[in-house]
Amino acid sequence: MSKYIIEGGKRLIGEVSVNGAKNAVLPVLAATVINNSPVTVFNCPKLRDVETMIRILQTIGCKVERMDDVVYVDSRTLDKIKIPEELVREMRSSIILMGAMLARCGEVEISYPGGCEIGPRPIDLHLKALKSLGAEIEEAHGFLYCKAENLRGCEIQLDYPSVGATENIMMVATKAEGITTIRNAAREPEIMDLQKFLKVSGVKVCGAGTSVIRIEGVKSLKGIEHTVIPDRIVAGTYMVASAITGGEVVLKNIEVEHIQPIIAKLREAGCMIYNNCTTLKIIGPRKPNAIEMLQTLPYPGFPTDMQAQLMALLSLANGTSIIQETIFENRFKHVEELIRMGANIKTMGKVAVIKGVKNLTGAKVSAKDLRGGASLVLSGLAAKGTTEVDNIHHIERGYENINDILSSLGADIKRVL
Ligand code: EPZ
Repeated sequence: MSKYIIEGGKRLIGEVSVNGAKNAVLPVLAATVINNSPVTVFNCPKLRDVETMIRILQTIGCKVERMDDVVYVDSRTLDKIKIPEELVREMRSSIILMGAMLARCGEVEISYPGGCEIGPRPIDLHLKALKSLGAEIEEAHGFLYCKAENLRGCEIQLDYPSVGATENIMMVATKAEGITTIRNAAREPEIMDLQKFLKVSGVKVCGAGTSVIRIEGVKSLKGIEHTVIPDRIVAGTYMVASAITGGEVVLKNIEVEHIQPIIAKLREAGCMIYNNCTTLKIIGPRKPNAIEMLQTLPYPGFPTDMQAQLMALLSLANGTSIIQETIFENRFKHVEELIRMGANIKTMGKVAVIKGVKNLTGAKVSAKDLRGGASLVLSGLAAKGTTEVDNIHHIERGYENINDILSSLGADIKRVL
């Protein structure tokens, strides 16, 4: 089992160019099945989840080629409607293929994605919305059999601004007759990127980034080129790497607008941050300030995908901080690992109280999920002594070459098999 070995105490100094966003490229690759024409996607990160999505597209008959960070998809040869179960299990977010496949083929067979490390991850909002658009969905033997002879646009009020449900509805609605209005839609930048992809493909869609998105169905989409937005969570993670080591790091190729909630909280923690629209410099404090209350919220609130990373930083703060995780049911699995490194954290349900300590000490710790694993790496950068992080496959789902990038900034981190 591969692991990272980190010798803490090194200030990070240097420049990072941030790769394309995992959570934007996955829905865009799914949407290529609707184009039924060649599509080229630029700025695709080299991540396990992206490789899984590529394998799914190839398994259902699409021609997919990758050259560095460019992925070419020709879905004209798509000839299967069953999404391979083992690949859905590998990546539960492949559920967004449901909408794309219903739009392209009018039917799809996909295994129930099930839960993951951070919670049960239900898809009730997806299914309710797809049914109101005219899909018939049968659930049996752990599979979803979906058919939609004729999709009709309608008004959809989401009970919760679910990112995946919003993406699924947008994709089905591209081929529904008439107009579909999504109210209480997710407002994340990844939704805006999907809208841009669909709009350039010829779909009449507007409103992404607000709570009301309107899509007018069309007969067909055309082949296009698309460049994926930068990964705001990867950017935030490297910002915390600078903050937690008292470093001085410049991030390039970012969308500063997308990371405003992260900038605000890191400034509150005592970081000096200077930026223009696509570049940012962050100087970490000698010792971070505590943050009285940090609540994770749907965008534009503070992102749940940055909760674990901020907890690592606040473990070393002057004073006591409170974090409330409001999005996922079980997203504190990194707490017990941080405690092994000397952090003083108490959790009650979805609230964590973090009493800053003088320093963390290196230890053997295990990544339990993607962002929690990243928080252990960040803690190892600041801890006194050696930290070993195992189960790093979780981390490598969402971070391209994280050990090489941290090494280039002066960290002493090795990846060992
Ligand atoms: C996306 O997950 C992201 N994943 C997650 O990033 C991110 O944390 C999440 O959005 C919130 O921003 C991808 O984009 C691939 P949701 P998604 O539907 O779409 C509940 C990472 O680390 N819910 O907005 O699954 C659900 O249980 C990952 O990169 C229902 O109850 O998120 C959760 O509590 C982790 N019923 C909340 O809504 C539904 O039908 C948010 O889920 C759907 C969701």
